[in-house]
Amino acid sequence: MDVRALIREEVLAQAAYPVVTTPYRIKLDANENPLAIPQELRERFAALLDSVPLNRYPEAGSVTLASRFAERFGVGADQVLMGNGSDDLIQILAQALARPGASVMIPVPTFVMYRIIALNLGFRVAAVPLDKDFDLDLPAMQEQMATHPPALTFLAWPNNPTGNCFSRERIEAILKGASGIVVVDEAYFHFAEKTFLTDLDRHENLVIFRTLSKVGLAAMRIGLLIGPPALIHELHKVRLPYNLNALSQAAAGFYLDEEAAFLKQAAEIRRWRGELFLALDALPGIHPRPTEANFIFFSCDFDPDRVYSQLVDRGILIRNLSAPGMMKGYMRVTVGTRQENQEFVEALKDIIQK
Ligand SMILES: Cc1ncc(COP(=O)(O)O)c(C=O)c1O
Repeated sequence: MDVRALIREEVLAQAAYPVVTTPYRIKLDANENPLAIPQELRERFAALLDSVPLNRYPEAGSVTLASRFAERFGVGADQVLMGNGSDDLIQILAQALARPGASVMIPVPTFVMYRIIALNLGFRVAAVPLDKDFDLDLPAMQEQMATHPPALTFLAWPNNPTGNCFSRERIEAILKGASGIVVVDEAYFHFAEKTFLTDLDRHENLVIFRTLSKVGLAAMRIGLLIGPPALIHELHKVRLPYNLNALSQAAAGFYLDEEAAFLKQAAEIRRWRGELFLALDALPGIHPRPTEANFIFFSCDFDPDRVYSQLVDRGILIRNLSAPGMMKGYMRVTVGTRQENQEFVEALKDIIQK
């Protein structure tokens, strides 16, 4: 029997999420925080994890945690849903809205999981290219909304991989014009320090995503969805009963207890981002774009495949995004520690001089 014959077309047509498995010394490809949990907190963290009863199921729905985060965000406890990373939340939300023939609208380029999950659930995907400044092409998106009103729109703010925040006015116009749900994914909030949280009251179709992945806990898979209570009520029916495991729930609680230490690291990363930007900008033929995230999107006037593979040869991993069209020559580098950034810039300088 050919099992492929049983699999849906949308799944067969896809490539799996690209995760590079090449050996590396310096990892600047996944927008992680380069720093471990501060030394002085590690013992407490270990003791906390040790106290988790692993023989018991975790708290279903992570409701204690959700209400603690809600308080931090200044919203109701019934407005927060915890997920096994934001990926889980994308899937839960999309699953709740996946009617036959429904569509998901995304700008491109953007975070690839929106498309992958939408296709897997049978949505039609309306991918609208960003304009020449990598901002939203509002007329093109409005045209989409008029002809095929999407059930769901994803806007990463700041956007991955371009690093910029789309203009607030354009997002507001989409929120006003959309008949479906509009997600503003604030995965990089800690580096942009801008939010749509205060707009929740004004837009019933606004949903905000946050994650602890970029601020230091990527391994624990902790995502947050903030939205209207009526929507959260329905999403609880779609999520798996124990979608956030007990160790992750404990780690998220620890984050709330010790948030100041994590925010201090984010501030340091923002400083290193400024230094890395200036160093890249000073290299001939390298053109970094303004960024509000923990990564820098840049174009290079050299063969990007050669640059990428020679970086890999030196044990340095970044993302090569170059493709025909608007992405030609573009790459993305995550802000690492000051030393990692310096090594990366030195290697790049050496490679482009050859
Ligand atoms: C815009 C955006 N949202 C969400 C995520 C994934 O977050 P999580 O680790 O919480 O699944 C990423 C990761 O790269 C991202 O760039």
